Amino acid sequence: MYKIGIIQNIHEEGIKLLTNHKNFDYEIIDDVSEENILKKIHLYDGVSLRTSKLTNKVLSRATKLKVISRHGVGYDNVDVSFLKKKNIKLLITATANATAVAEHVFYLMLTISKNYLNLDNEVRLGNFKNYINKFQTFELNKKEILIAGFGRIGKNLIKKCNGFDMKVKVYDPFIDNKTIENFGGRKIEIFHDAVKTADFLSIHMPLNNDTKNLINYKCLQSMKKNAVIINTARGGIVNELDLDKALNENIILAAGLDVFVDEPINVTSPLLKNKKIILSPHTAALTNECKIRMAKETTQNIIDFFENNLNNSMIVKI
Ligand SMILES: NC(=O)c1ccc[n+]([C@@H]2O[C@H](COP(=O)([O-])OP(=O)(O)OC[C@H]3O[C@@H](n4cnc5c(N)ncnc54)[C@H](O)[C@@H]3O)[C@@H](O)[C@H]2O)c1
Repeated sequence: MYKIGIIQNIHEEGIKLLTNHKNFDYEIIDDVSEENILKKIHLYDGVSLRTSKLTNKVLSRATKLKVISRHGVGYDNVDVSFLKKKNIKLLITATANATAVAEHVFYLMLTISKNYLNLDNEVRLGNFKNYINKFQTFELNKKEILIAGFGRIGKNLIKKCNGFDMKVKVYDPFIDNKTIENFGGRKIEIFHDAVKTADFLSIHMPLNNDTKNLINYKCLQSMKKNAVIINTARGGIVNELDLDKALNENIILAAGLDVFVDEPINVTSPLLKNKKIILSPHTAALTNECKIRMAKETTQNIIDFFENNLNNSMIVKI
């Protein structure tokens, strides 16, 4: 019998897969403090992990642990080099998230371009006819979007951009020209050249030493005045203070952010006061449908791992 720790509960459809399996027992851990996980981690053969951190101190005590199955695709909450040393496999829900996140990008782009929040407010205030010169709206049609990072989400997003007749440029040094052209995009070699002409910049790369603070004040200064930045990837790729400054100085038009350096976002963050930013609380992948897909894939990956039946695309190569 394999004992699985579910660190932060997941949708019941995922739990059911373990309940119905004779070889697995599980425990749901709601208190995700390091202190609590330290007490329990030695019990588990596998864990399901959402966004809470699994520190090296905790992993040092994980004497039985063979596999960590992320409920999601980002894995900056574990130290992969430490996992490698300990020979612990890291799995992701590779086929679950892309649609939900790509739709969220469109939600943010459309909320901004249609000035949705202000228009809704004006109607409620009784200003049904007065809005006409007060708030501008614009179309996505024929606008240039730069998709930075062309993995699962970037490839899903481009299909939606094509449907809106946007002009798509793609920056991803690890994806060849032909693949990008087959999706209807144009490959860009130098990121800082491409940002200069983009009406929208949507970020879909991992956070690492190369991408941290990639969008800083200097980069923002090179962008168009009407440019909109969307970040649903990871906080820290866009420098938050530089973004706030650039928006206040009318250097770019607006931003839509689902991810932040500190999550939950710090109550003192200037982003919370900046009306040119649309915010969501890291919920791009939390549609009803995606929650079920992620939960099922997380536990199925654990089962497949122990049954030697795992699809390669679910394994993070570390
Ligand atoms: N907001 C959310 O809820 C949510 C949900 C899922 C994923 N994410 C995040 O979205 C991002 C993309 O996820 P994915 O599933 O598409 O990942 P993926 O691994 O499929 O794709 C990432 C792409 O980024 C490219 N890349 C790597 N370094 C780069 C660089 N320096 N410049 C440009 N491109 C680079 C890779 O070649 C790859 O094609 C990740 O940061 C992930 O953590 C967020």
